[in-house]
Amino acid sequence: MPHITYVAHDGASQTLDITAGENVMHGALYNGVEGIVGECGGALACATCHCYIDAAWVDKVGGPASDAERDMLGSAGAEVKPESRLACQIVVSDALDGLVVHMPDRQF
Ligand code: FES
Repeated sequence: MPHITYVAHDGASQTLDITAGENVMHGALYNGVEGIVGECGGALACATCHCYIDAAWVDKVGGPASDAERDMLGSAGAEVKPESRLACQIVVSDALDGLVVHMPDRQF
C-alpha cells in the first residue's frame, strides 16, 4: 500500500498507508488527519482540501493544478502557491508511494 506523508503547518507529520485508488483527501479524512477538510466530498466544488505538493513530487502527481482546480483555489483560505493542489483530485497509486503533502495553515 502506498505511504503518504501529511505534514501539518506546524511541521508535525504523519505517514500513513493509503489504499491505491483512493484520493489524497479521503486518505487524510479516513485517518483523522487534521488540516484537510474536504467539505464537498471531492466534487471539486470547494477548496477545503487545499494542499501543497512537495516540490519533488509535483510532476508525479500529474503536474500543477488543472484550470478547474486553479479556479476553485481562488476561494482557498490560505495562500495559493505554484505547488498548490486540491487533494481530492490526486488519486493514490503505487507510483505515489512516498508522496509528501504539506497542509496550509487554514482551509477557510
Ligand atoms: S474536497 Fe472539495 S474540492 Fe476537494
